[in-house]
Amino acid sequence: MSTASTSSTPPSATPQLSFPEADVALLTFDDPKKGANVLSSGVLDQLGCCLDELEKRPDVKGLVIRSGKPGSFIAGADLREFAVSLDAPKSEIARMCQRGRRLFERLSTLPLVTVAAIDGVCLGGGAELAIWCDHRVMTDEPKTQFGFPEIKLGLYPGWGGTARASRIVGLSNAIELVAGGETIGAKAAQSMGLATDVIEPAQLQAAAIRLIRSEQQSGKYREERGRLRQPVAMTETELAFLGATASAYIQQQTKGHYPAPVAALELMLEAASLDIDAACEREAEGMAELFGSPVNRALINVFFLSDRNKKDTGVVGADVAPRPIKSVAIIGAGIMGRGIAATNLRRDNKVTITDAAPGALKAAVELILGEASYDKHLKGPDSRRAVHFASLLHSTATEADTIGSDLVLEAVVEDPGVKKTIFARLEHRLPADAILASNTSTIPITQMAQGMSHPERFCGIHFFNPVRTMPLVEVIRGAATSDQTVATAVAHAKSLGKSPIVVKDGPGFLVNRLLLFYLAEAVELLVEGVDPRDIDRAGKQFGMPLGPLAVYDLVGLDTAFHAGRVMYEAFPDRVPLSPIVGALNRAGRLGQKTGAGFFSYAKNKERGEFDPKLLQILSPYIREQKQKLSAGDIGMRLVLPMLTEATRLLEEQIVRDPRDIDLGIIYGIGFPAFRGGILFWADTMGFENILKLLEKFRPLGKRMEPTPLLVEMAKSGRRFY
Ligand code: NAI
Repeated sequence: MSTASTSSTPPSATPQLSFPEADVALLTFDDPKKGANVLSSGVLDQLGCCLDELEKRPDVKGLVIRSGKPGSFIAGADLREFAVSLDAPKSEIARMCQRGRRLFERLSTLPLVTVAAIDGVCLGGGAELAIWCDHRVMTDEPKTQFGFPEIKLGLYPGWGGTARASRIVGLSNAIELVAGGETIGAKAAQSMGLATDVIEPAQLQAAAIRLIRSEQQSGKYREERGRLRQPVAMTETELAFLGATASAYIQQQTKGHYPAPVAALELMLEAASLDIDAACEREAEGMAELFGSPVNRALINVFFLSDRNKKDTGVVGADVAPRPIKSVAIIGAGIMGRGIAATNLRRDNKVTITDAAPGALKAAVELILGEASYDKHLKGPDSRRAVHFASLLHSTATEADTIGSDLVLEAVVEDPGVKKTIFARLEHRLPADAILASNTSTIPITQMAQGMSHPERFCGIHFFNPVRTMPLVEVIRGAATSDQTVATAVAHAKSLGKSPIVVKDGPGFLVNRLLLFYLAEAVELLVEGVDPRDIDRAGKQFGMPLGPLAVYDLVGLDTAFHAGRVMYEAFPDRVPLSPIVGALNRAGRLGQKTGAGFFSYAKNKERGEFDPKLLQILSPYIREQKQKLSAGDIGMRLVLPMLTEATRLLEEQIVRDPRDIDLGIIYGIGFPAFRGGILFWADTMGFENILKLLEKFRPLGKRMEPTPLLVEMAKSGRRFY
């Protein structure tokens, strides 16, 4: 009975129609030019043509939609096309939404059963397409993830996704999916009624066709189509309760900085009592309000920053192939060494770890295996994985055992003497194709490379703490580091799921150099008599995850003291060296780890409270406050020194591209993504305005002095983006 045939569509276009059985059509998305299927306008036009063709085929009783790319269904809409329309009038955006929705809606009105057969990621526009089908069947593979991540771009689904999801999975689940933006696996999708069946990949198409046949017989899908066009069945009281709880949760998560989740919630509550057409109209109008907003633009910028980073090999123009890294040796089993070891194990790399302190290794092995095998669903270690990782982990007290690994990474105490001694012992014994790296956070790579026979295969690979959750890695190129070493370090960091940025050697490299200006300014504000709570509040109001004084307490005042000195020695003209950090050190207030720093952690180990004792310690240093600073002024005082320093980093060519600064500051410090990065923020503010702001604080010295680059940007009207 199988009479496989293909349609008349051009062979290069996607999607393509074919007919695996006489009365069943197969619509395959497989863009030959792309690694993942995305819904560009060309693809949507082609989808329209395929649906036209099906409408003319009364003999066809069912349609299966699939991807020709195993493990990847449809990744979403084409964001590059979106970005081009950012300045389009609202009416045009609403029309774009309506066009897409009317196209997808045909999947729920065609005179045949429609089933999305989903293997792999099904996101954004892809999820909307799937949700307009009568059914979804999904593979039970970890890669199969369904979700509406639009919220992460400052938007919500605009092709009927909010309206249709509310009616399929219920309003509460739909709000969580849309306003939360997280993806769900096949089993979770099945339990909320989004997936009709969950099966192994080889059976996917057959299961979809079986579903078509059973629906043809029962005709149930017609009833369901009718129900899904009605308002959501919920009472006013239920709606009010859901609205209140969801709104409190969103406020707590977004701190009022991200308008899209609130807009999604309001839309979905309101549209619940409308029929589907009216609900979709409201959705399109609301989308037009969010589209092109400052937050939307900033978040789209972050998306492109990350996308660019994924494609960056770390070297420009040079044709070098990175060496494969399958085994890693780590010297130093402290906080960082353990985190780096666990991250490598999770990617199935062999790990050898050593430490000079007796006893440190035994404890480290347990911690490393616990972290590597941590399962978020189990909320603890997965013992099967722990056994597997144990077979890849070799702990040894003999440093020489590290020789033979593809990469030897040092993560011992931050002492150049200790580090250099280790390199001197190991370097000449390493195989010619191995690379040597340091996880130092402050010591110049070029300085450590002095005396090496092969400084070209030495670089910095600076992970951030905690390694498991921090996406950024700085790959530091010393004066003699070769392109191949850089390319290898970059490829290795990417293989660990990290976002590496290549930076030239220099004090504090990129991230710590910028962070220090945020921190140092806070201490200056304290000296001027500003209340510590007002300082941290202003940082958070700007959108930073932590106020600067809380960052000191987290990092440790001892470490901060050391880092501050390094930076002061490097840039004495603009890094203020305040006696306050030293005074807190002398008082034994080192931050969270000692229960008190700028704040007290007596009641809560992580959330500091104002501590009147601090004022006693500070009193000899505090000057009378001449004029009360507004929260906005305090915020600008904290941010502007980072901006001037960021432009110096560009002038000194510490990074190869302004986009590296923005990605680095977002991923490394938590600079607010809704501002798009510090240079993107400066673009948004306008350079004339930035100069005016700096002028106001000019008496504070060089850190508030406009750099030649800022002056030039203001004069020429040029922007970073
Ligand atoms: P840590 O103090 O937790 O661990 C250092 C380990 O090195 C200790 O277990 C110590 O016994 C061992 N060690 C000391 N001398 C040794 C030697 N000669 N041979 C073998 N092992 C030796 O320190 P942590 O925090 O893990 O820092 C390690 C490195 O990573 C430092 O260079 C630090 O600047 C850098 N780093 C630290 C970050 C952090 O937040 N802690 C963040 C990024 C980099």
